[in-house]
Parts: sequence; structure tokens; C-alpha cells
Amino acid sequence: MISRYIFKSINTNKEKKSFKEFLRHQTNSEYGGYKIYDGSRNHLLQIPEELSELIFFLNNYKKKHTDFKNFLEIGFASGRTNTIFNRFFNFKQIVAIDNFACDINTNDLFANIQRKNLTLLCGNSNSKEIKMNLKYFYPFNLILIDGSHEYKDVINDINLSINLINSKGVILMHDICNKEYPGVGKAWNKLKKNKNFSFKEIVCKKYYFNCGFGVAIKKK
Ligand SMILES: C[S@@+](CC[C@H](N)C(=O)[O-])C[C@H]1O[C@@H](n2cnc3c(N)ncnc32)[C@H](O)[C@@H]1O
Repeated sequence: MISRYIFKSINTNKEKKSFKEFLRHQTNSEYGGYKIYDGSRNHLLQIPEELSELIFFLNNYKKKHTDFKNFLEIGFASGRTNTIFNRFFNFKQIVAIDNFACDINTNDLFANIQRKNLTLLCGNSNSKEIKMNLKYFYPFNLILIDGSHEYKDVINDINLSINLINSKGVILMHDICNKEYPGVGKAWNKLKKNKNFSFKEIVCKKYYFNCGFGVAIKKK
């Protein structure tokens, strides 16, 4: 039983556990959730253990180092993860990029673009138009890379993010352990050689799908 508003904070292990349980109701059994995949594509694309641990970590990091006011998400899909992040960090500005080449649930998309300070840039993250537009919004305190999962595109998104991240900002990469997309893990391993960042991995391999979060923290 959750005794307080779930998005208020997750400061304790008990609160983290409640939040993980909450997330299980948002996602499919292949990710460790309680929903069945029925093709409606209105589920959260996250493993509850990983997302709850990540938010717990970011919440603590924020208290000691930097507020997350300005968020960039590369690969928005229908925006469910975006909404969860926004509930915790209440961003002043969100910029999201998507070329909408994948299947999404349009009702879900519409629901997740509302009630937030969002600028949605539609196009490929490697296009010069998108790169030019990003200049109006940077620097960002938090960036999530979860767009194309092809190696050369992920490298593009990493290079883009390195140029756009603020001092003490955090770059997140999703799917660093996803065997279906080995290019993501390969690109993450390359980023890990960058001395301007420190690194952390949040990985739960208990379920049918493996994802994994890479966390790259800009040192100064
Ligand atoms: C895995 S989904 C993103 C999931 C989302 N971050 C979430 O957690 O709810 C990947 C998204 O990236 C988009 N995408 C793929 N290649 C892209 C590219 N080159 N530029 C921009 N978006 C791209 C797809 O259309 C898709 O919606």
C-alpha cells in the first residue's frame, strides 16, 4: 500500500520499492511488468528495477550537484518515460527529438505531450536542421539517448550530447545491454573512454528483455 504521493520523492529504499511496484503496472511482462503485450503499444518501455534505481540515483545526485532544469530526450516515442522523468524533476524546459519512424500509439503520444514545457523537434537527430534548432535550447542538465539503436547513429547522438551537456550534467543511454542492438553497447563502451566523464551502469537482466542504463556524469 502506497501511503504518499508516489512522485513526491524517492529518498528511501522503501519509497524506491513502492515506485518499482508502481512501474510494474505500466509495463509488459517481457520487461518485468504486469501487462500483457496486446499490440496497443501503450506500455512503458522500461524495466521497473532499472528505472526506479535510476530515478533514485538522479534524485540524490540532484540534491548534491545540479538541478535538472533543462532536459533533452533523443528518441521520444510516445513520451511515457519522458512523463515519468518530468513528474520527478518538473523541468523548466524539455526538448525531445523523434523522426516517428517506429510504431507508436497516437493516443499515448497525444497524452504525453500535454501538461509539460515541451518542444518537440520532428526529424533525424543527425540532420543539420535538428542540430541547428538545438542551438536555441542548450545547454542541458540531463540528456537521455534512446533514438536510433544503430552504432553510427548512436555515436552521432553521443557526440551531439557531449556538445550540449552542461558542467556536472548527466547523459543517460538506454539499452546498453540489449542484445538485439549491439551497436548501443559498443557506442557506450567507446564513450566510457572519455576522461571528462565518470560512469555508472544500472542493469537488471532478470526478464525476457534486457535493456540497461548507462549514466555518464560530466566532471566539471
Ligand atoms: C526506443 S524508442 C524511444 C523510447 C522512449 N525514450 C521511451 O522510453 O519511452 C526509439 C525512438 O527513436 C526514434 N528514432 C529512431 N531513429 C531516430 C533518429 N535517427 N532520429 C530521431 N529519432 C529516431 C524512433 O522513432 C522511436 O520513437
